[in-house]
Amino acid sequence: MKSVELLDLDYLSHALREAFPHLPFDLEILSTIDSTNRYLLEKKTKNLQICLAEEQTAGRGRLGKTWASPFGVNLYCSIAWPFKKNILELPHLSLCIGTVVSQTLEDYGVSQIGLKWPNDVLCQNKKIAGILVETKSDSNIVIGIGINVFLSTILDIGDQIDQPWIDVKSVVTFEPNRNQLASLLLTKLLTALPLFEQSGFTPFQKTWLKKDLLLNQSITLKIGENVLTGIAKGIDETGRLLLETEGKIKHFSSAEVHHFRSAGDTYP
Ligand code: BTN
Repeated sequence: MKSVELLDLDYLSHALREAFPHLPFDLEILSTIDSTNRYLLEKKTKNLQICLAEEQTAGRGRLGKTWASPFGVNLYCSIAWPFKKNILELPHLSLCIGTVVSQTLEDYGVSQIGLKWPNDVLCQNKKIAGILVETKSDSNIVIGIGINVFLSTILDIGDQIDQPWIDVKSVVTFEPNRNQLASLLLTKLLTALPLFEQSGFTPFQKTWLKKDLLLNQSITLKIGENVLTGIAKGIDETGRLLLETEGKIKHFSSAEVHHFRSAGDTYP
């Protein structure tokens, strides 16, 4: 069996200090933790914190699901960013992160990447990365990102995951390197977050729209007890989903999207 290449603190610190010489940050790599998001949410600090773990024993996904996080095969990364922004702008932050993660994967050599509103990152219509932005009153906002890198090398993992998934290893022609991918991801994030802080979602909208997998698809939105069907028409400059229904365009900040893709569809 191939030996696991562990995440390397020196390599990552050096790469980030070189890219951002004036940005103070703390970087930790943990061997095991319940959830890197939970860990940073409970850490009392006003500084920028970055935490990666080799394994999460209770990785958190969206909608209360768990995120499969076996040792040494994927990226599990959280960032506590000391935002000077209104908490109401948070939903749009996760769309911004979706853009950054999809761009990172593309630049790393993964093709056929698309985004499904609000922030599912899909490859060949299967989940390759997940984003979970969380906050706790009086503390920082924590951005959590999981990227499937070598998940397909773990036997029997499929039983634990209730949605179609894929990993980087299965779609590139080279052996992925988690340290290089983490360095690319963090460099892009630390570049994007100040821009988001200054200008909101608008600078990211164009990239997001290019990768929109739902565009012109028939979708169903679940908003609490209500269900609404229509045609997805992209997103507005604040990241709200546009739905054409009964001849009108409606804007949605949050909803659960259900979409049934037809065979033969192409990817952006
Ligand atoms: C999703 O369900 O799409 C979101 C998954 C987010 C997973 C990441 S892994 C690092 C961070 N820590 C967690 O517990 N969750 C996020």
